[in-house]
Amino acid sequence: MPIALITGVSGQDGSYLAQLLLAKGYEVHGIVRRSSVLNRSRLEQLHGANGAVSLALHYGDLDDPLGLLRLIEAVGPDEIYHLAAQSHVGVSFEIPDYTSSVTGLGTLRVLEALRLSGCQARFYQASSSEMFGSAPPPQNEQTPFHPRSPYGVAKVFAYWATVNYRESYGMFASNGILFNHESPRRGENFVTRKVTRAVASILAGTQRELHLGNLDAMRDWGFAGDYVEGMWRILQHDQPDDFVLATGEAHSVRELCEVAFSHVGLDHEKYVAIDPRYFRPAEVDFLLGDPAKANRLLGWTPSTTFRQLVTTMVDADRAELGA
Ligand code: NAP
Ligand code: GDD
Repeated sequence: MPIALITGVSGQDGSYLAQLLLAKGYEVHGIVRRSSVLNRSRLEQLHGANGAVSLALHYGDLDDPLGLLRLIEAVGPDEIYHLAAQSHVGVSFEIPDYTSSVTGLGTLRVLEALRLSGCQARFYQASSSEMFGSAPPPQNEQTPFHPRSPYGVAKVFAYWATVNYRESYGMFASNGILFNHESPRRGENFVTRKVTRAVASILAGTQRELHLGNLDAMRDWGFAGDYVEGMWRILQHDQPDDFVLATGEAHSVRELCEVAFSHVGLDHEKYVAIDPRYFRPAEVDFLLGDPAKANRLLGWTPSTTFRQLVTTMVDADRAELGA
């Protein structure tokens, strides 16, 4: 039975990936941070019939290199999926130092712990389309990076650390350069979930307006469940390499609002208000990925359309709020 270790297992992607790997017969271990209240809601899907969680959780933090080393030695994984990060772009402008440490140096710490442990695990780095920043679309593996946020800068560092450990030490270390992917488990302060949650709250009568920033930003939005399958395929490839995962289709935040509100018969223009608080000091205007390489070498294609994604998220939020 192969053994996988996931950092960021309590996050959106970590929960879908753990589910996928358990279904594939892996022994799955996840690293969680200690917090004053348990933050495991996304892992509820993984509870067995008797309520037991079928994956092993270990306390750890990206700020604790020795702890990471001890964990890798204790678990002895065949594959490490490094997903943990301060992952919010807007927030990264408010806490740039912390974001650089966790999102940038955190990757180096996992790589160095892996190297020092002598463990031969394959390593996956959760790289991001935010690294392309202002590079014109479509973006692929050859597109030069031009990050536009502390988060994007930290991810560029982590990307190159992964390439560097591959080239320096012969490690099987790969980057998945993932474009935006969403789901009903998405954090509530990312724009898709903020919009779908607002639609449900407005229907429930508990919210009257939705305050947003830049409605013109274009994003290539896919479904997180499809993307974790891509992560797994990246580590099953015969050699370490870097891959873009994207849908190849872009939509604006405005279109996102139109689809979400019209799904329940509402006109978004009556509810959406522009709020300067949600504009970023520098914006990424247009992300549109070209996933041809992943399609050709990994046989990976996304299965969920933009409309399916948004309406599923609205329906899930309605069900949760009873709206
Ligand atoms: P997410 O929902 O924000 O999850 C982030 C995870 O990292 C959480 O489990 C969080 O733990 C953990 N974490 C944060 N700081 C940590 C620390 N100091 N030590 C240990 N764990 C820590 O993010 P996601 O959407 O699943 O994304 C997964 C990864 O892919 C991230 O690296 C993200 O930057 C990257 N990515 C995401 C997308 C996307 O569209 N979703 C696209 C490209 C790349 P808590 O639960 O305790 O907060
Ligand atoms: N969050 C948020 N909140 N975004 C808003 C809002 C708002 O109220 N109003 C407009 N937007 C715009 C943002 O300015 C951005 O252009 C776009 O909506 C998407 O914002 P997010 O959903 O926060 O995602 P992101 O694209 O900045 O970052 C996500 O995708 C990256 C991959 O490209 C995150 O998941 C990153 O971790 C990931 O790397």
